[in-house]
Amino acid sequence: MRERLEDIAVAMVANGKGLLAADESTSTIKKRFDTIGLESTETSRRDYREMLFRADEAMKKYISGVILYEETLFQKAADGTPFVDVIKAAGSIPGIKVDCGAKPMAGFPGETITEGLDGLRERLDSYYKAGARFAKWRGVIAIADGLPTWGAIKANSQALARYAALCQEAGIVPIVEPEVLMDGAPGTHDIAKCAEVTEWVLRTVFTDLYDARVSLEGMILKPNMVIDGKNLRKASVEEVAERTVQVLKATVPSAVPGIAFLSGGQTVEEATAHLSAMNAGFDLPWELTYSYGRGLQDSALKAWGGRPENVAAGQRAFTHRARMNSLAALGTWKEDLERAA
Ligand code: 13P
Repeated sequence: MRERLEDIAVAMVANGKGLLAADESTSTIKKRFDTIGLESTETSRRDYREMLFRADEAMKKYISGVILYEETLFQKAADGTPFVDVIKAAGSIPGIKVDCGAKPMAGFPGETITEGLDGLRERLDSYYKAGARFAKWRGVIAIADGLPTWGAIKANSQALARYAALCQEAGIVPIVEPEVLMDGAPGTHDIAKCAEVTEWVLRTVFTDLYDARVSLEGMILKPNMVIDGKNLRKASVEEVAERTVQVLKATVPSAVPGIAFLSGGQTVEEATAHLSAMNAGFDLPWELTYSYGRGLQDSALKAWGGRPENVAAGQRAFTHRARMNSLAALGTWKEDLERAA
């Protein structure tokens, strides 16, 4: 018997836990490894991810699920144990990125459309058999002079809705990720512009999800926070929290069990502080947690540095970050906990 989508979705956002986004594509993980001078090979990618997935305390206490890239879903740890089994043994749920990336959108200079719908039904069946119980698809919206356009928002929103419907048919919970970029070029828009665009995008996405007959109870939303562009950062933690909650309350039905943010290029501490401020300061109809990539991994990647003798140090850094974000998901993170560590 298949698990109920509602139950999987609730487990993904329960008890101060959140998601580890470890689904960097081969080209993205290469960029991350470049920062520590490590060559990206199947083995180095395996070793890095094994370090994370075998960080027992972090995985058991703070990570409800892990988003994997296809290579990792079918990959084995050094001792031959499938990664899916390592993740499940820690009580965490394996998930899979299923989009094929944001590609230049014909006729829309500076904008992208996310590809990957063709053949998705068959791929979802094979991912389900491999143990994946949730999936992720990221649509990307850039803010620039004259952007975004309605054409790009609509096309990305409809692709998200088609993807989500196919996931639910396959017994897989869709993470619906429409990301309004903070770190796209030129990155000089202010928080008010981000609020306006994020509201427009989320309204469109929920209309398309409804039209596609997607069950809101069986999905998770993965949005950006409402924040200034990366080259014009000035809003306070309180303002980011307040504006983000305002936009989400105006657009996200309370039938959605949980919202798990991307970190999007914020520093690791900012991503934690913003999440904690939202959970501490507002009465919310959904669980609000993390689905961070860089926000959970940056310090671990640095501490590890690609060296076998640093695995324990990398795991300590990851565990610390996961614990801080878990506290943020409960609204009880304090800055001095960072210094104490
Ligand atoms: P970041 O938290 O690094 O933005 O990555 C999350 C993610 O999965 C983007 O698709």
